[in-house]
Amino acid sequence: MTGVRIDGKVIAQSVKDRVKKAVEELKSHGINPCLATVLVGDNPASATYVRNKHNACQEVGIATKDHKLESNITQDELNSVIDNLNSDNSVHGILVQLPLPKQLDEFATTSRISPIKDVDGLTPHNAGLLAMKKAVLVACTPSGVMEMFDYHNIELEGKNIVLINRSNLVGKPLYHLLLEKNATVLTCHSKTKNLKGLCKSADIIITAVGDRNKFTLTSEMIKDGAIIIDVAISRHNEKLVGDSDYDQIIEKASYATPVPGGVGPMTVAMLLKNTVTAASLSSQIGR
Ligand code: GUN
Repeated sequence: MTGVRIDGKVIAQSVKDRVKKAVEELKSHGINPCLATVLVGDNPASATYVRNKHNACQEVGIATKDHKLESNITQDELNSVIDNLNSDNSVHGILVQLPLPKQLDEFATTSRISPIKDVDGLTPHNAGLLAMKKAVLVACTPSGVMEMFDYHNIELEGKNIVLINRSNLVGKPLYHLLLEKNATVLTCHSKTKNLKGLCKSADIIITAVGDRNKFTLTSEMIKDGAIIIDVAISRHNEKLVGDSDYDQIIEKASYATPVPGGVGPMTVAMLLKNTVTAASLSSQIGR
């Protein structure tokens, strides 16, 4: 059996088409959606991600502001950049690219962002709303994964899902989103016992480890017809890879995502969607 490829580029484009229309609608009401990014230091991967986000904004008509800060900036200096963006009425979304240099505290930084401009869904306010099933702005990668399920009409109710990640950006928000759909979600991590056995019995595996030396999901570890969502991306033997080899996995899975071209484009598309949501939120509260 060969499964269906879940093509992130195609699904991301369908999201972008909708976002583009929403941007036009907002502009016709005098609102010009704008995303501000903050990049600290010179991590080349982070710089590429931020550049991709700017290009995608341009594609759909969202304005951008680009803040590049020295890697030795202090927490107070970073806080004041965020404070200025919080009070800048022309900015609707704020994204501080992670990871941050060691002297900076990720929680202090992301919590500083105004919840209505928090397009990463990382503030305690938005993370809390998600846990209460009241989310408005949800982390981009998790909502991108949900969009993929939706696009393919994949039923989640009652499914046994193994989620291999427990981060604030991926695992925890996904846990809540999947639970809302009445799935049974097992959140696994580096200390989980018998991960292989758990994978083998899962209907759906969502994996986001990102280090092939620590974990590789092979086709022997999945059951026939399983659905595999590979969120990871890392460099291995000079190639960009996920936690699994798509060509091998798709022979046994009913659906799977490739890497690259799977979840990655969805993260960017959902960021655009969140920026539009943030822009309409700001108009609703009459700024
Ligand atoms: N670094 C890797 N993924 C992300 C993301 O979705 N948002 C932010 N802010 N940083 C990231």
